[in-house]
Formats: sequence, C-alpha cells, structure tokens
Amino acid sequence: MAKMEHQSSPTPHVLIFPLPVQGHVTPMLHLAELLCLAHLQVTFLNTNHNHQLLTQNTNIEARFSRYLGFTFKTIPDDWPPQNRPRPQASNVNIMKILKAMVEGMAPRAEPLIRELLFGTTETDKVTCFIIDGWLSFAYDLAKEAEVPVIAFRCSSACGNWSYFCIPQLIEAGEVPFKENEEMDRIVCNVLGMESFLRYRDLPSFCRGKDKSSCDDLRQYFMREVQQTKQAQFLILNTFEDLEGPILSQIRSQCSQVYPIGPLHAHLKYRLGKEETPLSNNSSSSLWEVDKSCTSWLDLKPDKSVIYVSFGSTTTFTADQLMELWAGLVQSKKYFLWVVRPNIIASSLDGPIPEDLLEGTKKRGYKVKWAPQDEVLAHRAIGGFLTHSGWNSTLESIIAGVPMLCWPYFSDQQVNSRFVSQVWGIGLDMKDTCDRSIVEKMINEVMDEKKEELCRSMDNISQAAKRSIAEGGSSYSNLNHLIDEIQAMSKKGGLKSSSSHQ
Ligand code: UDX
Repeated sequence: MAKMEHQSSPTPHVLIFPLPVQGHVTPMLHLAELLCLAHLQVTFLNTNHNHQLLTQNTNIEARFSRYLGFTFKTIPDDWPPQNRPRPQASNVNIMKILKAMVEGMAPRAEPLIRELLFGTTETDKVTCFIIDGWLSFAYDLAKEAEVPVIAFRCSSACGNWSYFCIPQLIEAGEVPFKENEEMDRIVCNVLGMESFLRYRDLPSFCRGKDKSSCDDLRQYFMREVQQTKQAQFLILNTFEDLEGPILSQIRSQCSQVYPIGPLHAHLKYRLGKEETPLSNNSSSSLWEVDKSCTSWLDLKPDKSVIYVSFGSTTTFTADQLMELWAGLVQSKKYFLWVVRPNIIASSLDGPIPEDLLEGTKKRGYKVKWAPQDEVLAHRAIGGFLTHSGWNSTLESIIAGVPMLCWPYFSDQQVNSRFVSQVWGIGLDMKDTCDRSIVEKMINEVMDEKKEELCRSMDNISQAAKRSIAEGGSSYSNLNHLIDEIQAMSKKGGLKSSSSHQ
C-alpha cells in the first residue's frame, strides 16, 4: 500500500484548509489521515472554536498523535457571532451566513497561512496546499508563495458540475428562475443531465429571480469554480463507478481530477490494512455523540427502523417540523430522529398534540446527535430520511441503506435527483413537507418499494467498496495523487511544476 511505496521519498509538507463546518471538516480530516498513512507531513487548519469542540467530543488528539508529521494549527475566530454557523446557533439563511463567515475568516487566517506557506526553514516549508472549494481567497496567497494548490470540493461530482454550469445557465436565461414557476421543466444547459434534471433540482441558489442575496451567491460560486479550475489538481469525494459520466464532464474543464471516495470508508480500509491494524475510531463530530440510541436499536427487528437526520446545518420552520413529526408518527414505523437543539428557526406554537407525544413514546427515539456511521450500519435500520448532504449520502451508500430525500440547500437538490432518478437508491420528497406525503413515502421506502431500491443499492454499495479496496479506482487514484504530491515537493514549487495556471 501507499505507505510502503512512498517510504524512501523525501517528505513533502501538505497544508489542509477546510471550511470550518462539520460537512467539510470531516472529509478533510479523513483525507489528512490518509496522507499521514502515506508518511506525508500534514498541517491541518482548524478554527479555535471547532478545535475545542473536536477535542471535547472526539479522540482527535490521540488519533493524530501517532502520526509524527502531523500538526493542528488554529485560526482565531473572533468574527461577528451572527456570522458563525456554529452548532449552538440557529442560522436561517445558511448560505449567506457561510459566505459572510468566509469573508470574516479571510483576514484572520491570512497571517498564519503566510507563515506556513513562506516557512522559516526548508523542512517546515509547505510544498502543497489543499484548499476547500469555498476558500478561494487562499489561492492568491499560494500563488504569491509559489506553492502548488490542490482543490478539494466536498460535494458530489453532480453537484459540482451544476456549479460549473452556472455561467451557461445564466447566459441562456435558465437561471435565475422564479420559485413555483414551471419547476418540473427540464433544464437544457447542464451537459450530461439534459434528460432528467428539472429546474427544482438545480442548486437552491439558482432560485430567487428577484432576490439579490441569491444573485450574490451565484456570483460567489462562479468565482469559486473559476479558482478550482486554476488548481493543479481537483480532489472529489466520490468514485468512478458512481459518477463516471459527470466526472468526464468535469475533466473537460479541469484536466487532473482525482475521485478518491468514499473517504470515510477508504480510510477505514487502509487503517485496517496496516500490519498492526490501527483503530477505526475516526469520529470527527463537533457535537457530543449520544450513543444510547444503539441500545434502543438493539431491541428492534431487522430493517424495521427509519433513521431521520438532516446533517449539521439544515433548519426547519415550526410548521415543517410539525408536518415531518406527524408524518413519522402516522407512518407507524419505528424512527430514530436526530433533533439538533438548533434545528428549528422559530419556536413551536402551542402545545404538542397528544397523539404525537404518544406515537413518539411508542415507536420513536430522539437524540441531539447520533453516531451516524454506526447507526447506518446497524441491522435494525431499513431506511434513511436525509437532507441529501453528500457525506450522509456516501455513508448511506456504504451501509447499503435506501434513502428518502428531503434536500435543504445547495448541492443537495442535485444529489437527491441522482439518488432517485439516476441511481435508483432512494425517493425524492423535495419541495413538499406535508404529513400525508411523509407518511406515504416512508412506507414506500420501508415496504412497497423496498426490494427494488435495495437491489440497486446493493449494486452501488458493492461498487463503492470495490473502488476503495486495493486495485479499485479510488484506491489507485489516491496512490497516484500521493505520487504527484511527492513529485511536487521534489520540483520545489509552482515555478517548475506542471502548472495549469
Ligand atoms: C454539508 C452539505 O450538506 C453537503 O452536501 C456538502 O457537500 C458538505 O457540507 P451537512 O449539511 O452537515 O454538510 O451534511 P453532510 O454532508 O451529510 O454531513 C454531515 C455529517 O455529520 C455526516 O458525516 C454525518 O455522519 C455526521 N452526523 C450527522 C453525525 O455524525 N451525527 C448526526 O447526528 C448527524
């Protein structure tokens, strides 16, 4: 494996910089650990606050202490509290908040990044900078320091490709469009998706014809995508057998694309292959995990429980939450529901109806944050009601659990269309939140359509596992990527490396 192949090369130093939110920190920590296993020197940038949360809620320090070349560095996060998508806060317009957070973070991160990029000694000097797709301000610093950049985009290839197509969509007048107008019309200007992508399946910020905040976000994404195209390489947390045709589209604009996912499973596989297997305890939760739900699951029959979780940033209105809750109870299925304290944007009106409380007591179990990976792998889980966040989607694929999708924002609208229409591994409930629909679709996923969904899911799940095993596409891609990172450090930076800039 990579460890052996790269042992004799000089040690390159990789700097990794994620957007400081759960869905980005998790896969980038997985990537960091995979690079550590190949004996690369890695520095990982966290915000102070996230680092404290990781230290409180996980074994992160012990987990990384065994890698001698690994260091955490932290960025002060004293930007205005309203611009922090923190676990404790309830943020309604999350995209706007994320953008404001990046703008707040940039000047605070810059001195540390400069110090690392310019390095005081040759051994300290960063030889390659892996930057989150949201943080393109860091590209200019890398360029100045002549350090090659690898872009890491946390969402699916299909979600990313839809971002790449925004300029064409705007030029053709397909975007922006008014919400509730011809939402089922097929989109013409996303190559490779012309037969099935509807307006409602485009990233959420394509909606809002009259909203300047959406326009601002579209401009922001267009700039970010431009930067991604400038990077030496692009890493995606996906695999060839799942998104091959869309990866080809992305390759038409970025020549070196490395799909190396699903990263969480890839890391587990490589940790397990060590001569003395290292622990697989790789939680990156910014929240305190409530493990009591696994004992509750132990008492339930096989595939009888629907797991309900909407990731780290989704918020509901009080009405939506009540519809969802009523639908869960009316479905008469067991449900394990992650209700983060900040999941609703407003307080509930009036008392909770008695039948909901009664139904929840009989068949439900609520936690504030679950050990999701463990839950999805539990034999009692038969379906996953999800917001179609990309990490959750990949975790469900590896666990072989069919999904019911209620996408919230951004790439999730595209992901849920692929889950339902292209891969056939789930159903899509987007743009509705009505108790009778929730009830009906839960029953479809858990009973009526269970067999066909499970058949497709089994095939895709097997393909995912093959891709990360020795000889598989993601496994080989990661080995090539490590070779490239080694080569970059030998060449000594941007001037002499094969830049596409
Ligand atoms: C976001 C976007 O949704 C996603 O599409 C994007 O590409 C990355 O960032 P988030 O909304 O938080 O992330 O969802 P998701 O990508 O699914 O990530 C959530 C992570 O939190 C998953 O790894 C999941 O396992 C974990 N989680 C969630 C828990 O460990 N426990 C829980 O109770 C809920």
